[in-house]
Amino acid sequence: MKLAITTKTKLTTKLISTSFKKLTLNEIDVVTELESETSENHWTKQQLSESISNPNNLSQILIVKSKIVGYIIAMPSVDSADILNLAVHKDFKRKSYGSSLINHLLSKLKKRQIKNLFLEVRMGNFAAISLYLSLGFKEVSIRKNYYTKNSNELSIKEDGIIMCLEIST
Ligand SMILES: CC(C)(COP(=O)(O)OP(=O)(O)OC[C@H]1O[C@@H](n2cnc3c(N)ncnc32)[C@H](O)[C@@H]1OP(=O)(O)O)[C@@H](O)C(=O)NCCC(=O)NCCS
Repeated sequence: MKLAITTKTKLTTKLISTSFKKLTLNEIDVVTELESETSENHWTKQQLSESISNPNNLSQILIVKSKIVGYIIAMPSVDSADILNLAVHKDFKRKSYGSSLINHLLSKLKKRQIKNLFLEVRMGNFAAISLYLSLGFKEVSIRKNYYTKNSNELSIKEDGIIMCLEIST
């Protein structure tokens, strides 16, 4: 599928041709590299492979000028879904690609009559929390000390925030 996404530059707004594609094991190396570069608690190649291979999951990549700039992996169930993973390449951040990946997922979930989209995010992940709030996600609960962050050989616990977006029909 080809579509146009509005992307922002400092002075102008221009249309760039982009496409979404199902994420398969063919892209595993690119996605593993992107994951390790962008995420603090990144998934291993094996975790990504298992998730992509799971036929119940919805996994999409966003391609801009033949380059994979981001991906999203979600797990739908009967009437809700969870975002399991989302990342945008470091050179392509703040160009609305993260929002586009979520909106693309939402269009797929709507077709399945799915009503709520959940996710969990580290309390300190300001960029991701800002993105989710900008799309209308609301905090539903806190998981105390859910994440472990390794800093200077110290193991620091960090809360997780569970957020939800009610999907409009
Ligand atoms: C979180 C992430 C996916 C955002 O992707 P992105 O393509 O940069 O996000 P967008 O450009 O769509 O941002 C949309 C809005 O979110 C908010 N936002 C995104 N990044 C932000 C940042 N670093 N600081 C403040 N606000 C931010 C802004 O409101 C932004 O709108 P604006 O640019 O008009 O101000 C990206 O930073 C990333 O890959 N992070 C590492 C992996 C990760 O944390 N994944 C989420 C796990 S829960």
